[in-house]
Amino acid sequence: MIKGCIFDLDGVIVDTAKFHFKSWQDIAVQLGGQLSLEQNEKLKGVSRMGSLDFILKLNNISISEEEKIKLAAQKNECYLKLIENIDQSEMLPGILDFIKQLKKENYKIGLGSASRNAITILQKLKIDHYFEAQIDGNMVTKSKPDPEVFLKGAKGLELDPSECIVFEDSIKGITAANQAGFISVGVGDKNTLTEATYVIEGFTNLNPNDLFKILSRN
Ligand code: BG6
Ligand code: MG
Repeated sequence: MIKGCIFDLDGVIVDTAKFHFKSWQDIAVQLGGQLSLEQNEKLKGVSRMGSLDFILKLNNISISEEEKIKLAAQKNECYLKLIENIDQSEMLPGILDFIKQLKKENYKIGLGSASRNAITILQKLKIDHYFEAQIDGNMVTKSKPDPEVFLKGAKGLELDPSECIVFEDSIKGITAANQAGFISVGVGDKNTLTEATYVIEGFTNLNPNDLFKILSRN
């Protein structure tokens, strides 16, 4: 029986994936390399340092640890500027209504994000009060596809993974959820999120109970 939902943030609740991409692409170009939209798909759900390592490897660039720390900080500064004035208009279509419906029906709601900026963003969007458990990149030691972030979320909601749905836009996040026995719902393209229990294009006109009925048949 489904009792709660754990949401990834970037690309599920809010349209920030494009800001992460823009900030990393600037770094890649600055280093004389590149980062395509397709390559960026692999960065979704990956920690800040993990993302930098991926970009460096992709472009055959080797730099010192000190330089890496500087670049990661530079990326974050650029990202923070892009999200400075973020508000509910940047939320993905239908998600706020979906969250409100969940709350009304007494489902528990949690956050499971790799981003160290996730809680700041929830606050900027003025939706933090909906989330009983808020797990972000500062609270985990292992990145997705390790399920730590979602397991901590389920613990915070006092639920078993089998009672929770994880909503994710990244392949790594879906793998993480599946590994720990959550029901995974991919948000995006079903040809990309092939491992998800079920894939939705988005939350527009989505009724939680209708979705849960479909999931119980899967
Ligand atoms: C994830 C994003 O949610 O958070 C990644 O999908 C991002 O693109 C990661 O790199 C870490 O974010 P931050 O804000 O801690 O640099
Ligand atoms: Mg995401």
